[in-house]
Amino acid sequence: MIKDIKIKNLKKFFNRKDVLNISELTFKNGGVSYLLGENGAGKSTLLNILAKIDKEYQGKIDDSFVEKDVSLVDANPYMLKGDVYKNIAYPLKIRRRKNIDKSMGDLLEIFNLKELKNKEASKLSSGETQKVAIVRALSFSPKLLMLDEPTANLDKEAKLELIDILKKYNEQGNTIIIVTHDHNFFENLKGEKIVLEKLGKR
Ligand SMILES: Nc1ncnc2c1ncn2[C@@H]1O[C@H](COP(=O)(O)OP(=O)(O)O)[C@@H](O)[C@H]1O
Ligand SMILES: [Mg+2]
Repeated sequence: MIKDIKIKNLKKFFNRKDVLNISELTFKNGGVSYLLGENGAGKSTLLNILAKIDKEYQGKIDDSFVEKDVSLVDANPYMLKGDVYKNIAYPLKIRRRKNIDKSMGDLLEIFNLKELKNKEASKLSSGETQKVAIVRALSFSPKLLMLDEPTANLDKEAKLELIDILKKYNEQGNTIIIVTHDHNFFENLKGEKIVLEKLGKR
C-alpha cells in the first residue's frame, strides 16, 4: 500500500535565507493536488524535495516512494541531444526495461507523436518540447508525477489533451501534483488546492 505524503516541520534554507517553513502538510495518495502560491513561495523548491532530487532540508517527509517511482517535469525541460524517440526512451533505458521498442510504439501512438519521432529535440517548438518532456516523464509509469507550471507554452488544445492524459493517469491509481494557476486545469481535472505562503514578508 502506498500511503499519503506527509510533511512535518519542513525547513529549507538557501544561503541561510529560509524559503520553506511548513509545520504540516499532506498530499493525498492517489489524488490530484494543485500547489499554488506566489512567485518565490517555494513551490519549485518543494517539488524538488518531494522528487528526492534535493536532499538538503530539515524535517520529515513520510512517503512510500523511492526515487525511481517519482517523475518531475520542470517548467523549462531539458532535452537530451538526439531525437524525440531517444528522449522518451531514455528513462526506460536507464531502468533497463524490456521491450522498449514496443513500449515506445505504444507511447508514440497514444500521445500522437509518431510524426515527431525522428525530429531533433533541439528543433522542437516550446509547446512540442513541453509535450515530449511530459510523455518522457510518464513513459516509465511513475507512481508520483509532478509537473511544475506545465502549460506556459501550450495552446488551449494542447492543454486539454494534457489534462485528459493526466486524468487517465490518475484513474490508474497514480498520484499527481501540479504547480499551476491555469483555470483549464481546475475546471477539467478535480484536485485539492494547497497554497504555499511566501516567507519573509513578516
Ligand atoms: N538554487 C537556489 N539558490 C538560492 N536561492 C534559491 C535557489 N532556488 C530557489 N531559490 C530561492 O528560493 C525561493 C523560492 O524559490 P522557488 O522554489 O523557485 O519559488 P516558486 O517556484 O514558488 O516561484 C526564492 O526566493 C528563490 O529565489
Ligand atoms: Mg517555480
